[in-house]
Amino acid sequence: MFPTTRMRRLRYHPAMRALVRQTQLSPGHLILPLFVRPGRGIRQPIASMPGHCQISPDLLADEVSQAVELGLGGVLLFGIPEHKDAVGSEAFASDGIIVQAVRAAKQAAKDFLVLTDLCCCEYTDHGHCGALSRATGRLDVDNDATLELLARQAVAHAKAGADVLAPSGMIDGMVGTIRTALDAAGFQHVPILSYAAKYASAFYGPFRDAAQSAPQFGDRRSYQMDPAASVGQAIREIELDLAEGADLVMVKPALAYLDVIRAAAERFPGVPLAAYNVSGEYSMVKAAAQAGWLDEQAAALECLTAIRRAGASIILTYWAKDAARWIE
Ligand code: PBG
Repeated sequence: MFPTTRMRRLRYHPAMRALVRQTQLSPGHLILPLFVRPGRGIRQPIASMPGHCQISPDLLADEVSQAVELGLGGVLLFGIPEHKDAVGSEAFASDGIIVQAVRAAKQAAKDFLVLTDLCCCEYTDHGHCGALSRATGRLDVDNDATLELLARQAVAHAKAGADVLAPSGMIDGMVGTIRTALDAAGFQHVPILSYAAKYASAFYGPFRDAAQSAPQFGDRRSYQMDPAASVGQAIREIELDLAEGADLVMVKPALAYLDVIRAAAERFPGVPLAAYNVSGEYSMVKAAAQAGWLDEQAAALECLTAIRRAGASIILTYWAKDAARWIE
């Protein structure tokens, strides 16, 4: 007790603070999401996410080279198709936007990790994460019909050269279905990063503008998790995805779910755990910084440190490039 014990002794000297610091943040833990749209020479700023653009595949080489240069862990690609339809056909078309994007990214840097978001919502005209039916009595995503679509997407992404597939639809059985499809097509070596505990979150708002994927009716609460569900439900989601063959798992969003990240890290210490620092978490800090209300660099690094401290080893973040520069 005071005055024998003085906690500030560990804080007076910067070198002492550094010595007792535990959480490390390095560029290699960070993955940069990128939005790719058809065309040439396109760099369309995303209004809701300052600093980010929708870019055409020909400009991807430059983005990927920067990511390599900065020592990032990888890039996560989202395709924004020209034509949307009821089942999101362009998601698995052999010349679709995501296939073009993966090829361009791998061509730019063959030893750099290219991940793909595997979902229907960017590609469907109704904006939901799968095929629709009235099987449950109301118009909703049809679970098992969607599995077939995801299997086709997985094979298309893997054929294009994607290094890691990241299914984000919260469809029951998606990981097992994708694993089976990949194995049958000769892609036994391609890992799956499952968005295992993904919540129906208001923090995806800016992303839906970026990916033009807002649901045209209703919401995603029949497939994404309820924020008020027990942490145990998140653990079950992760357990099931692991049983189906997930190699890495993700909790999403990150900041409002640090307790879930912590629980997952403790429960599955042998499994690489990722957390998605989502669009709304980025844009709210950006907006406050633009208003002069907080320091973006300090706030962003504090958020990323907290996500690591909670137990995530990998962070998907729109600050990936900035953070890498700030850390240096
Ligand atoms: C696609 C997907 C979404 C995000 C990642 N993959 C949107 C959603 O579920 O509505 C959100 C990412 C972000 O907000 O940064 N299913």
